[in-house]
Amino acid sequence: MNRTDAFIDARVGGHATESAAASNDTAIGVPLPHESAVLHVSGEATYTDDIAELHGTLHAALGLSRHAHARIVSMDLDAVRNAPGVIAVLSAADIPGENNCGPVLHDDPVLADGEVLYLGQPVFAVIAETHELARRAAALAKSDDVIRYEPLAAILTAAQAKAAQQFVLPPLHLRRGDPDAKIAAAPHRLAGTFEVGGQEQFYLEGQIAYAVPKEMDGMLVYSSTQHPSEMQQVVAHMLDRPAHNVVCECRRMGGGFGGKESQSALFACVAALAAQRLRRPVKLRADRDDDFMITGKRHDALYAYEAGFDDQGRLLGVRVEIALRAGYSADLSGAVATRAVCHFDNAYYLADVDIVALCCKTNTQSNTAFRGFGGPQGALVMEVLLDGIARELQLDPLDVRRTNYYGIGERDTTPYGQRVEDNIIAPLTDALLDSSDYRARRAALAAFNATSPVLKRGLAFSPVKFGISFNVPFLNQAGALVHVYKDGSVLVNHGGTEMGQGLNTKVAQVVASQFGLPLARVRVTAADTSKVANTSATAASTGSDLNGKAAEAAAQTIRARLAELAAKLLGGDASDVQFAHGSVSVNGGAMPFGQLINAAYLARVQLWSDGFYATPKVHWDAQTLTGHPFYYFAYGAAVSEVVIDTLTGEWKLVRADVLHDAGQSINPAIDLGQIEGGFIQGMGWLTSEELWWNRDGRLMTHAPSTYKIPAVSDTPAAFHVRLYENRNAEPTVFRSKAVGEPPLLLPFSVFLAIRDAVAAAVPDANGAPPLRAPATPEAILDALEALQVASVASTSGATVTAGTSAAQAPITSTAAAEPTERSEPT
Ligand code: MTE
Ligand code: HPA
Ligand code: MOS
Repeated sequence: MNRTDAFIDARVGGHATESAAASNDTAIGVPLPHESAVLHVSGEATYTDDIAELHGTLHAALGLSRHAHARIVSMDLDAVRNAPGVIAVLSAADIPGENNCGPVLHDDPVLADGEVLYLGQPVFAVIAETHELARRAAALAKSDDVIRYEPLAAILTAAQAKAAQQFVLPPLHLRRGDPDAKIAAAPHRLAGTFEVGGQEQFYLEGQIAYAVPKEMDGMLVYSSTQHPSEMQQVVAHMLDRPAHNVVCECRRMGGGFGGKESQSALFACVAALAAQRLRRPVKLRADRDDDFMITGKRHDALYAYEAGFDDQGRLLGVRVEIALRAGYSADLSGAVATRAVCHFDNAYYLADVDIVALCCKTNTQSNTAFRGFGGPQGALVMEVLLDGIARELQLDPLDVRRTNYYGIGERDTTPYGQRVEDNIIAPLTDALLDSSDYRARRAALAAFNATSPVLKRGLAFSPVKFGISFNVPFLNQAGALVHVYKDGSVLVNHGGTEMGQGLNTKVAQVVASQFGLPLARVRVTAADTSKVANTSATAASTGSDLNGKAAEAAAQTIRARLAELAAKLLGGDASDVQFAHGSVSVNGGAMPFGQLINAAYLARVQLWSDGFYATPKVHWDAQTLTGHPFYYFAYGAAVSEVVIDTLTGEWKLVRADVLHDAGQSINPAIDLGQIEGGFIQGMGWLTSEELWWNRDGRLMTHAPSTYKIPAVSDTPAAFHVRLYENRNAEPTVFRSKAVGEPPLLLPFSVFLAIRDAVAAAVPDANGAPPLRAPATPEAILDALEALQVASVASTSGATVTAGTSAAQAPITSTAAAEPTERSEPT
């Protein structure tokens, strides 16, 4: 068994094996291992901190604010300067250019100037001989003698910010039809509130930058970033130099998950500032706790919703308000909120609808991109609403979902005006219900729950429709550079970055297939702003769609030149030339690829080319929130089964069945990995990962000791993940579909299954269990208790509204309450 076979056999589902039979190992659709898989597991893969340090390298650390909101009265940094090993201490006054690292608005200081806006904000940077000494000196920021503050009133939660009408950007409002009238006239109505927590990206490699000064005011910045071009731009502005003086390079990240789309900038800027001032290489590597304290996370959200519906649960009118906690600055919150608005519909047709999204300004970390980019926050509340409607009507939530699905040729226009033209959600659902045995298991569960007093099982289905493209149209462009060397080996550079998602493997497969070469003949280099200019972030799941197409275009240009020469040498027509299995053939003759390259070089044929791609069809009107923001949609669905312990609140995912649409997959092994990883990561968001700030605005969950991401033991014993047989309706690269983010929405089914189990525990209670997300054991116990109280109340005639807690008023729910003090972790 070769390595690839072993790789596939280790997977559940095994759709991949069908195409694996292909003998040409460059073939598209072959489940080849990640190009760096061996390096990842052997420890040889070079991350930014592994780059051999140049002689004279210094290390930076950041002094952080101790207040959520305060005026800086005075700073006396002498004690820091005199600490052992310290070479320099830098503050805002040392920045020659613009003191900003914000990606959209210029409201994000690199180092605080005069005022601190959140607890954890960098105020000064220490540069020392070693990483350890820099950290020790930076910790002096805790002393009152170093920085004196005048504390100001702080707003910490979205609810508080909403009450104070404090936003980083104006509210977004999308309305179609007359939802108020439709809700008023509907046979049934449901109103409620809901809340979901944020999520730390928890990339295993933390934020890091290594800046090396170059001649003539040049600066080379190695950065663990999803967005090298943005790092180049902000560093150039901050140093007050033209962009051509700055190069940013990223070989790979140990994960980004959105957290390095914009927020790698602060680290790149501080390292570059120090390197420029001291004329020495400077590295800034954030310790995990500092990374948690400084950087933004997924936006948590508070929702208030109201819907009118008929006897089948079909939505007639619906309103929702989504209040996102943006943090102290805008960062990417506008685009995140826009994606939330555009994903409230998820897979459902909403004829009459009103959606408001608020970017609440708070004195906390500036929340940012995280896998799904607002899409999960938009769609989750819809799924909770439909679950509530089903419970109200005592229907299977699955049937209520299907009743509301987008149609084909009718009921197919989204609230933002784009028609859903590639809808496959109904057949995908049927296939999954079949393979997961949903109906039979629902009956088995009811029988189990009837006889099990403490353990209760829950089952849920949830679908996903996710829009692919940056929702800012101009970002949908990419470039690539392909070199064929005289020995026939190929080097590819493209505008995307590798963060473990397998982008480089897919791009290499695309280029190798153009030349009919084995994958080993194609090498992908580090992302580098001096090779491809003005790139977009590797984000919005578009990495392989954009860069795959750009690299394909570059390779096609070279191949056309080679085909012309081959036809000249072998006779025949250039359009008949075949590139396969390492050789080039036409007109009955053939020659090895390397031999043709040699001939081409001698004939002075250009053996390298650039390539460019701009996604067609996309447009967007940010004023009316309408247009065609997505080139196409990716679909998926999942069925999850859980068991909860009603005495302790503990729970376990017993089985998950996933069917996901990656179009015609370029690499099924990588795509299955993305689906599994996205599922488990989304499950962590909705169940175990809980961010908690104390009343001073100090994030208390800033390390794995207090912040629980899923471990391998949290994956279900039965995990059936399969690709849905499909090809993209649009001519994307090999008709594939983006797969990076959409699977994060699949574990909605896990959360809903926990709700189902909670509901099963209190069968006489009316309506949906008031379970908040994340559904930690505490949240599960709270929901059980509230349901028991509600059940007693309803038998005595009182009415209950759906919500995170039956006793709470709409939207100003638990998150609005004063956070309670909890002891500091040691
Ligand atoms: N997979 C791994 N292993 N590591 C990551 O950081 N980021 C996700 C997803 N999958 C991520 C990942 C996010 S947020 C996005 S937008 C996409 O990958 C980006 O890569 P792509 O566009 O090439 O899919
Ligand atoms: N995803 C990620 N990043 C973005 C987007 C998006 O949709 N739009 C603008 N930046
Ligand atoms: Mo992904 S959140 O678009 O980096």
